[in-house]
Amino acid sequence: MSEYGLRLSFLRTEYLVNPLGIDEPRPRLSWLLEAGSERRGVTQRAYQILVASDPDQLARETGDLWDTGKVASTDTAQIVYGGTALVARQAAWWMVRVWDGDDTVTAWSEAANWERGLAKFTDWKANWIAMPHLSVDDEIAEARELDALLPVPHFRRTFTVAGTVARARLYATARGVYEARLNGEKVGDHQLAPGWTDYSKRVQVQTHDVTNAIRQGENVLGALVGTGWYSGYVGFEPGARHYGTTPQLLAQLHIDYADGTSEIVATDGTWRAVTGPIRYSDFLMGEYYDATRDLPGWDAPGFDARAWGGVGVQNKNATPLICEPSEPVRAQDEIVPVGVTEPKPGVFIFDLGQNIAGWVRLTAEGPAGTVITLRFAEILNPDGTLYRTNLRSARATDTWVLRGEGTETFEPRFTWHGFRYVEISGYPGVPSSEAVTGVFVGSDTRAVGAFTCSDDLVNQLQRNIVWGQRGNFLSIPTDCPQRDERLGWLGDAQVFAGTAVGNMDVAAFFTKWMQDVADGQSEAGAFPDVAPRLVDLSDGAPAWGDCGVIVPWTLWRTYGDTRIVEKHWAAMERWMDWLLNANLDLLWKHNRNNDFGDWLSIGANTPKELIGTAYFAYDAHLMAQMAAAIGREHDAGRYRRLHEDIAAAFCAAHVDEDGTIEGETQSAYCLALHFGLLPPALREKAAARLVANIEAKGGHLSTGFVGVSYLCHVLTNNGYPEVAYRLLHNETFPSWKYSILHGATTIWERWDGWTEEGGFQDPGMNSFNHYSLGSVGEWLRRTVAGIETAPDAPGYGHLRIRPVLDDSLSFAEGRYDSIRGTIRSRWERSGDGISIAVTIPANVSAEVWIPVATGGTLMEGGAPVSDTNGVTDVLRDGDHTIVHVGSGSYAFSVESRSTANASS
Ligand code: BGC
Repeated sequence: MSEYGLRLSFLRTEYLVNPLGIDEPRPRLSWLLEAGSERRGVTQRAYQILVASDPDQLARETGDLWDTGKVASTDTAQIVYGGTALVARQAAWWMVRVWDGDDTVTAWSEAANWERGLAKFTDWKANWIAMPHLSVDDEIAEARELDALLPVPHFRRTFTVAGTVARARLYATARGVYEARLNGEKVGDHQLAPGWTDYSKRVQVQTHDVTNAIRQGENVLGALVGTGWYSGYVGFEPGARHYGTTPQLLAQLHIDYADGTSEIVATDGTWRAVTGPIRYSDFLMGEYYDATRDLPGWDAPGFDARAWGGVGVQNKNATPLICEPSEPVRAQDEIVPVGVTEPKPGVFIFDLGQNIAGWVRLTAEGPAGTVITLRFAEILNPDGTLYRTNLRSARATDTWVLRGEGTETFEPRFTWHGFRYVEISGYPGVPSSEAVTGVFVGSDTRAVGAFTCSDDLVNQLQRNIVWGQRGNFLSIPTDCPQRDERLGWLGDAQVFAGTAVGNMDVAAFFTKWMQDVADGQSEAGAFPDVAPRLVDLSDGAPAWGDCGVIVPWTLWRTYGDTRIVEKHWAAMERWMDWLLNANLDLLWKHNRNNDFGDWLSIGANTPKELIGTAYFAYDAHLMAQMAAAIGREHDAGRYRRLHEDIAAAFCAAHVDEDGTIEGETQSAYCLALHFGLLPPALREKAAARLVANIEAKGGHLSTGFVGVSYLCHVLTNNGYPEVAYRLLHNETFPSWKYSILHGATTIWERWDGWTEEGGFQDPGMNSFNHYSLGSVGEWLRRTVAGIETAPDAPGYGHLRIRPVLDDSLSFAEGRYDSIRGTIRSRWERSGDGISIAVTIPANVSAEVWIPVATGGTLMEGGAPVSDTNGVTDVLRDGDHTIVHVGSGSYAFSVESRSTANASS
């Protein structure tokens, strides 16, 4: 903190902290401005950024690459680097200082940096290498049956270093999944690298700082390469070899010496290869690890590799090699089992207490050749055994053969399972709880949100939503982590995106995935059903393809990111044209292809054409907003008119004058109301019909993936918050709490995944970890906690804090670490009074909507609100008092609420 309490922190480049290896020549910079809690109304009037080619220059306050001078601006994010373009592998160091509202300048921030990766194709000296004649291990039954279960090759090469190393970087990737090794150690902490893209369109490269791992004398660079998404089993049925047959490695180590010389060690024909203990390691099927075949010391100097064979070399083709633009997959949490049972002698089932994605680390001691089997499941049969039929063809089984030397540890490399329970058989003796550790694995997106309230089941719902996200955001947003599927379904992603942004920082994650979506767009302009486009090769389904418009819009609203909009603008326009050209009467009758409808709705059948046309209109509405945001005024007008015209066509085709909407389902009413399709005169009527429909179902919802994401918003925004709260609290089937009361620790795929009457649903499609029905998380954050960016202010520069209280809760609170800083909102009722505490980040303003009309006195910190420091205006709007504030923490209270029930 500087002497007057302002601090600059969390400097990021392209949403990442000190990224090594980025492609973007004009990366965007951001920082946080933090003020001491006692200061209110802090603003930033100007900034200065210095970017230097080495830290010493920066220390001398010179920016040889870029010196912005004092720029009058309140921006703290999305600031586009405008200095000298960096060449391949060049590093840039930067810092920032700002001037506050009084024109007092802060101290310089700490230095941050970024580094470009290998930029051009010709920067690559390495070629792809593979192990020749790699084939399945015939001694293993599963491998005889499933011929894509290949052993994992080990690759190695030695090199000698003499001289002081100033900097060393490893650029590596695989067609497959790899773990790089240098001198006996794993390089970095990534898992399942390089992550999933359409490998025929682009392959991601990881950059590692290995300066400290290089030694004088002999060094060994090595890697293990598994089949992964490239040639292993992915998707249903189950198919393998989607992109190629044999896993391959591409690696290039750059050593820069202190004397200015440099050296490159790259994959080429000099490398050696062999298979070792991993007889196969497959996402869906599991791993077979035979420790009797361990190769101790293979990745360190001094190992005798004469018995190893040569490698096959393949020249690079034209497929772009890109720097990984988002957080990698990492092992993040370790979970200690909460219980163990022994349903059959010698068969132990450990319960992690939480459904996760990842694997188990196991220790054991026993004779060489002992075979231990680990099988995974999300749920148990009534008799306490594993329920695994819902895994379909995913075998989700790890096999471990002991080496027989003291205590050994097994942890798989290139598989992952969706599970809460692990069954261990063949174990020598009785496994203790300490022997079993659950390892949670996923994309390492930073947690940015929290929500708690006075109702424990709602808190569990929030936990289930977050775990559903964590377990499924693994390189791409998967539908589920357990069965033979794990695809990036666009429908699931778009309904959940608004919830996802509130839980984790998914800016880089979704930026990366949008490229996969764009890669999957058809020639004609249709966005795919899944991205990367694989297994389901169809496209253009209503509410699925629309994701190509909805996700960029969500990123722009959340992060103020206009670049994502600009980048995908042409693709989004092609999508709109594709829709329009096939449906000139503005009803989405044609080109609905897979037409999934309101997927997994329950006891309701929303007409599919209606869903299509509603989304068509919604797309136009979002396109109009995005066009305006990137300065395309003409397009904005065009899409605004298109939205109106489609809405009119929708009403003419599907809506009666009394507000009845065809199909008369909750989802039909939700789409029409949420997407602004109805004339004002019909809104009230339609909303009343929606409520009547819920009443007629005994206060139950009937929405599927599509409708559920709007249901509570629509009820709240149309005057029925108490009905939304009723749905939230419903404990009988179908409802969110029903699954929780039956033990759910993640969101189920289906409302009726298991019921008292019917038991398990059809195992053909019944996942217990599918996030879509958890899209109510957005409503918890925006409405119950009341944290929202103002309608005209994408990127949380100006907030609307408007919690909607309900008598069913005595308090609720939320936190959101926005791109501008941490926002908090907490409300509590006591007797007749309420208190609302908010924290507004520095350089951010807010309107806080407090449910108090005339009669109640609104106080802040013991004084009437209008006298309070930081409050800039106090207005009234119906039942609310709207307090405009600058940054800081405020505690508002109302002694008595004369217009008592806030949720009316
Ligand atoms: C997936 C879904 C997906 C759907 C398409 C299912 O198999 O698991 O989540 O959206 O297919 O309707």
